Amino acid sequence: MWNFFILLVFCCCLGAMSRANLEQSKLQCACFNATAPESCTNNKITCDVEAGKVGSCFVVWSSDNVTGENRVSLQGCFINESCNNTECVSDGPTRNNVNYCCCRGNMCNSKFKYVPLPPSPEELEEVVIPAPPSDKPSENLVIVIVACCAVVIVLVSLGGVFFYRNRKTAMFNEVPTNEPDISSSSLTLNSPRPIHLIEQKARGRFGAVWRAQFKSDEVAVKIFPLQDKDSWQSEQEIFKLPRMKHLNILEYIGVEKHSETNEFWLITAYHSLGSLCDYLKAHTVSWSELCKIAESMARGLTHLHEEFPATKADGLKPAVAHRDFKSKNVLLKADLTACIADFGLALIFEPGKPCGETHGQVGTRRYMAPEVLEGAINFTRDAFLRIDVYACGLVLWELVSRCTEHDGAVPDYTLPFETELGIHPSVEEMQENVVTKKMRPRIPDHWRSHSGLNAICDTMEECWDHDAEARLSSSCVMERISQHTRYPTTQLFIESNTDTLIKNRTVSM
Ligand code: ADE
Repeated sequence: MWNFFILLVFCCCLGAMSRANLEQSKLQCACFNATAPESCTNNKITCDVEAGKVGSCFVVWSSDNVTGENRVSLQGCFINESCNNTECVSDGPTRNNVNYCCCRGNMCNSKFKYVPLPPSPEELEEVVIPAPPSDKPSENLVIVIVACCAVVIVLVSLGGVFFYRNRKTAMFNEVPTNEPDISSSSLTLNSPRPIHLIEQKARGRFGAVWRAQFKSDEVAVKIFPLQDKDSWQSEQEIFKLPRMKHLNILEYIGVEKHSETNEFWLITAYHSLGSLCDYLKAHTVSWSELCKIAESMARGLTHLHEEFPATKADGLKPAVAHRDFKSKNVLLKADLTACIADFGLALIFEPGKPCGETHGQVGTRRYMAPEVLEGAINFTRDAFLRIDVYACGLVLWELVSRCTEHDGAVPDYTLPFETELGIHPSVEEMQENVVTKKMRPRIPDHWRSHSGLNAICDTMEECWDHDAEARLSSSCVMERISQHTRYPTTQLFIESNTDTLIKNRTVSM
């Protein structure tokens, strides 16, 4: 009798469990398909989820840049093990201004939202503080005249664009106006575009950098949103200057304008080692690696700063100041030579023309020279170049801090002033320490136990001199470092103020 009762209870439980299992294998989600509306009845879909699989609901949508209105292109269910959210929340447009979110639970995708990720520490450090607007009437008059000219130029250009619309060819170095591309509003990667975005590698001041595929080559695509179109324009202007093709300047490939998503793409060479900052976080460097990186970096900066007269083949290359020089903006190629990237804030100095700059305090707080922090720069070419050299001194410090070629322990990577001021120093803290107290990153005594490193330490100190006019030029920095690369077993005695070589002595290293 008891046996029969136990069997009955067991069978009831089994029945209940299998019913529960059957219920668990159905998932109901909000359903929408912009391209096939008939595929969703009552805006709901019930999906069968195979035993052992996990079903999730999802939404794909885009936001109108002007009105902010959300346009859903797909809502439904799919098998996804890794989606653990109960709410459907996107942390930002994935690509082409498309948002995606997924969630677990019946109808969890009937509501969805976009909650931006907090900015990265680097983004928090980037400041662009415009100078107060001018109150001089003559300057205002000039602004009005320039604005009127700009309106006329824009109208004439629009006329030109309209006239040539039918002759458009999608070529690099031009700005193709892509026709609306319906596939771009879905997550499928089988877009007809020749460039396929693969993976987001970095986020900077202006949009994101993606690793992408162009034919059989890997390229980097920097995507500027509509509001940063001016930066896209100014960065490509720098790349298109005569003689900007240089081994130690990031190689420019082209630009694309994606009107349908209001994105502006800048396509450059891709370097899988990423930035010097990323590299130093993960690796230490030997003395010869340090020399290679430092010399090529200084060579790139020297080329950028240099003015070259016009030749038969090329126009004049003006001097260019980077204005956001830092280890994040130095990329490493596979052979560990460096190239300089991110010209979004760069300034061109055409001979005989004023630089026309009104924003003095730009760049990354941590790397700002004392005169920038003080707001006391004079707007001359040399003043801007010296500001880059100050930052270059800090990058040399970062490199030496991760070099294994001395008697002491190699600490984990830290940004300049991170030990002293933490990861988010305010402008006021930077001013108090770098300007008032003349603080600089600490150079431990044991770094000087190696004659080569000792010379690099002297060089960095001469780069970050408080007196901007006493700083080395970028070409002197390059010369100093290349002497060590050429004569690795030679200790060089350099008279610092004249930068002339006065004596060589061979030492064991
Ligand atoms: N990060 C920024 N730009 C890059 C590039 N061109 N290659 C690799 N990583 C990058």
